[in-house]
Amino acid sequence: MTDDALDAVLERVSERVTPGTDERERLRAVTDELTARAEDAIDGLPVDADVTQVGSSARSTWLAGDRDIDLFVRFPTSLDREELERYGLDVGHAVLPDGHEEYAEHPYVKGEYEGFDVDLVPCYAVDAATEIRSAVDRTPFHDAYLQARYTPELAAGARLLKRFMKGVGVYGSDLRTEGFSGYLVELLILEHGGFVPLIEAAAEWHPPVRFDPRGDGGPAEVPPDVAEAAAFDDPLVVIDPTDPDRNVAAVLSAANLARFQHYCRALLDDPRESLFYPESADPIDDGGVREHLARRGSHAVAVVFETPDVVEDQLYPQLRRSLGGVTDELDRRGFDTLRATTFAGGVGADASGRSVLFVETAVAELPAVERHEGPPVHVGEHAASFYDAYADDETVYGPFVDGDRYVVERERDYRTPEALLRSDTLFDVALGAHVESALQEEYEVLVGDGTAALAEEFGEELRAYFEPEV
Ligand code: CTP
Ligand code: MG
Repeated sequence: MTDDALDAVLERVSERVTPGTDERERLRAVTDELTARAEDAIDGLPVDADVTQVGSSARSTWLAGDRDIDLFVRFPTSLDREELERYGLDVGHAVLPDGHEEYAEHPYVKGEYEGFDVDLVPCYAVDAATEIRSAVDRTPFHDAYLQARYTPELAAGARLLKRFMKGVGVYGSDLRTEGFSGYLVELLILEHGGFVPLIEAAAEWHPPVRFDPRGDGGPAEVPPDVAEAAAFDDPLVVIDPTDPDRNVAAVLSAANLARFQHYCRALLDDPRESLFYPESADPIDDGGVREHLARRGSHAVAVVFETPDVVEDQLYPQLRRSLGGVTDELDRRGFDTLRATTFAGGVGADASGRSVLFVETAVAELPAVERHEGPPVHVGEHAASFYDAYADDETVYGPFVDGDRYVVERERDYRTPEALLRSDTLFDVALGAHVESALQEEYEVLVGDGTAALAEEFGEELRAYFEPEV
């Protein structure tokens, strides 16, 4: 690898992600128009408020072709929550007549305007990010912090890093992705001074890694013994310079950090544009699923149910929790989970689709009996009562002595994973609340080759499952 090869790749990617003059001017014009409309709407309210543009479009760190505008309307802290929501929505609907309401920590209006996707979010004009009443109040402080420090060179670095993270699948702080947020990207670039130094450093990180942008000592990896004393036990800690009690990387999963480090090394070893713009995989078909299952000789089971009507940020954590509950129970009962995953179709408002808990076990069927150990014979009363309890029980083998203990072999509750999943025992495992109610309505259990039917709806997800890459 030569530095020239990396530079050439970065130059080509830069060309693709840097917005042109037309795009910048157009964004500026539309933002001005939206701001003016919002200010007009505020004039009609009994309170004063101001409008501020935040996010990547405010800082030239958006990727060319992205059509997002985030506008925040800051209201006085004297308003109560209800008034803030009402006035915020009034302004939102006035600015975006075709918009609809969405809900983060409080409601806001999202809509299209002249081809841009606009979020109009009400927040409180607090004096410092440490005094916030809701998470969105912090955003204008993030923007101010970065505005004061960003240069066009840093912005170019942030765009490259966003594109790279999108390419390798770790960009986005939503709870489905559990990756890096835009703000985190910009802080990391600021901390390291550019894309290449960040990539080189990240390739060598030994998590936990901690950065505190408030210090001016430059990037510093904290030795493991010191990291232990840290207030956060996340694998990557980036202290929010506007609110030191917050880790900006809190939602980043250990897997996505590891994935990112893998691809940092891959980029340095063999620079190529395809890491930034991967080809999307073809969906697998049912025959493909059957082939994999035959080759793997594993036992597949799938619990299929209607996708609960909740937002993504609620759905995915609940699906993962439910999957964990199911695999723990299968393991406890001797079926030995090999790998498992969850899919969801039709997520979000007005959509309908099915969700799946998909599990591959090493064991397809267990004996009709299971071993049940009693106490060692010499523990007296305990041992005697175990013996007496089973002595006349025709349904068990034994009691007999094995080693120094009484043992019986009794009938097993579930001989197959599917028998367990079709029983009410499914509701004894830890399930996400909305997943549990969806399952109570109705669910279906697919087994073995029967799971191949899922390829029609989840072909891409199943391809990724059966042909896993980093
Ligand atoms: N934000 C928010 N509520 C919204 C939309 C945005 O609180 N409905 C905040 C986010 O927390 C973030 C900022 O506004 O601090 C911009 O959000 P986002 O568009 O997700 O990130 P960007 O930094 O703009 O990055 P990107 O280039 O991916 O758009
Ligand atoms: Mg944005």
